[in-house]
Amino acid sequence: MKTLRTVAELRALLPEAQGCAFVPTMGNLHEGHLSLVRQARSHGLPVVASIFVNRLQFAPHEDFDRYPRTLARDAELLAAAGCDIVFAPDERELYPQPQTFKVQPDPALADILEGHFRPGFFTGVCTVVMKLFGCVRPRVAVFGKKDYQQLMVIRRMVEQFAMPVAIEAGETCRADSGLALSSRNGYLSDAERAKATELVTALRVLAQRYRDGSGGLADLEAQALAELSTNGWKPDYLTIRRREDLGAPHQSGDPLVALGAARLGPTRLIDNVEFS
Ligand code: PAF
Repeated sequence: MKTLRTVAELRALLPEAQGCAFVPTMGNLHEGHLSLVRQARSHGLPVVASIFVNRLQFAPHEDFDRYPRTLARDAELLAAAGCDIVFAPDERELYPQPQTFKVQPDPALADILEGHFRPGFFTGVCTVVMKLFGCVRPRVAVFGKKDYQQLMVIRRMVEQFAMPVAIEAGETCRADSGLALSSRNGYLSDAERAKATELVTALRVLAQRYRDGSGGLADLEAQALAELSTNGWKPDYLTIRRREDLGAPHQSGDPLVALGAARLGPTRLIDNVEFS
């Protein structure tokens, strides 16, 4: 496996005609990322993973500075998972000038849920993903369902700009406890880690109550928020949306997803559960 720092090196090693399967990451990798790499391998193309902590998607009060940078360990894990190339540019390489051209995603999809609580987040994500696609020129790119809304926003961006890349979804990896693997789990104390499973439990309960017709959606969501708050969390949202476009469910039989974000101590976690 090769670790490359510049777009020129990447272009030299990987001619456009060859194509590749791509897994973009911000590093500090865990089994969830590695499962995306293994999925990318199934295409029989060279596999490229990027590691870049993208300043554009962090608000000033967020964890950009303390986001763990663990390149040496990440490279070992990627090599063992069958990755061929790690593209790990620094900020001067990816943003040699201030990035004044930005992707403005559809507000109907990007200003709700995560975008409501993290304004500008999806502009930052789409801008860097479009730029990474321009550097890596993948035929396939794999994004985890753990970041459900991100996956949908990227899919929509690729459709709207007719970008020549197929977007694939990778399943969320969970610890035995049910906790979704996330780089931010590293911020949790042992006690918080044990408690962190309450988020997915709350989403499963919300989905079950909705399926059972135990109440109107607004009441069930309010109940879920209240229960999580009583348990010491600070939830941003717990909601049920259509999988198709993250709109409010309006007819039975729609494939649905329960999505949530909540703070446990200083750490903000997100998760989701698909159901119908
Ligand atoms: O999901 C992530 O790790 C990031 O949002 C991504 C897609 C690598 C863009 O920085």
